[in-house]
Amino acid sequence: MNPAELFDLSGQVAIITGAARGLGRALAVGMAAAGAKVALADILNLSQTLAQIEGVGGEAIAVPTDVRDRSQVARLVAEARGKFGTVDILVNNAGINLIRPTLETSEEEWDLVLEVNLKGVFLCCQAAGRVMLGQGHGAIVNIGSINSEYVFPNSAAYNISKAGVLQLTKTLAYEWGPHGIRVNAVCPGFMETPMLAEIQRGKEELAESRRSRIPLRRFAAPEDVVGAVIFLASPAAAYVTGHALYVDGGWTLGWPGVERVDLDGDLKRALGL
Ligand SMILES: NC(=O)c1ccc[n+]([C@@H]2O[C@H](COP(=O)([O-])OP(=O)(O)OC[C@H]3O[C@@H](n4cnc5c(N)ncnc54)[C@H](O)[C@@H]3O)[C@@H](O)[C@H]2O)c1
Repeated sequence: MNPAELFDLSGQVAIITGAARGLGRALAVGMAAAGAKVALADILNLSQTLAQIEGVGGEAIAVPTDVRDRSQVARLVAEARGKFGTVDILVNNAGINLIRPTLETSEEEWDLVLEVNLKGVFLCCQAAGRVMLGQGHGAIVNIGSINSEYVFPNSAAYNISKAGVLQLTKTLAYEWGPHGIRVNAVCPGFMETPMLAEIQRGKEELAESRRSRIPLRRFAAPEDVVGAVIFLASPAAAYVTGHALYVDGGWTLGWPGVERVDLDGDLKRALGL
């Protein structure tokens, strides 16, 4: 096969969740530029992503979707099929973060993080997987994180949701492999998106200490992660399944690198001391 064709997504239909901004938007534009017809899902307005896809000559539809809601996810898959005929690729990218000491994490916060980051992936895999299993082929790429395997303090709900994404990836790769479906994960390190801006706001020292520990000495741009997702979705990865591909500038090489957070202070505050 011609090497360029290995990464060609022409004629393929991809669903991308969380496509309104950040990594999801970069993925949507990148996959459309690689030839895929894309169905975009988000709870935020998708018009900027649609405009950028038009700019690269791509084809897309926007389907407002909350990934926590099974009926909305079913409609997303139905609309992608209705418009483009099938679903070949699913990228589960929608996610939220929560930095909160465990003792201060409310039940509602815990549920919200797990529902978006883990149940949402499950629901989308189930709905798109049903189509893929029927046709005997498909590729799913779940967005994990360095938190999928490495522990960040004050992040229990997020850590566990992302660890769960990795186990779900491997479980489905095992279950659905015999039916021609590949399921992989991409685990980004720190990436300059609205999510990272929000969690590092006012914490310049922490951001700098993180940056200084990354062997490549910079945070990722969302575009740095696009190639890894296209690879796993493409014919180039035809024999790759159940894999977690870290795209982290080498950050995991240096772990355990202790996060400089005031754990004693957090605990004392939570205990009212
Ligand atoms: N930014 C980082 O440093 C980083 C690092 C590792 C992994 N990640 C992961 O990458 C993915 C993308 O994150 P990002 O940094 O682009 O974040 P972001 O907050 O910039 O974008 C996330 C998108 O998901 C959407 N979303 C949230 N809840 C949703 C819901 N219920 N239904 C549908 N869409 C929903 C948001 O509206 C938003 O458009 C997430 O899964 C995140 O956990 C991010």
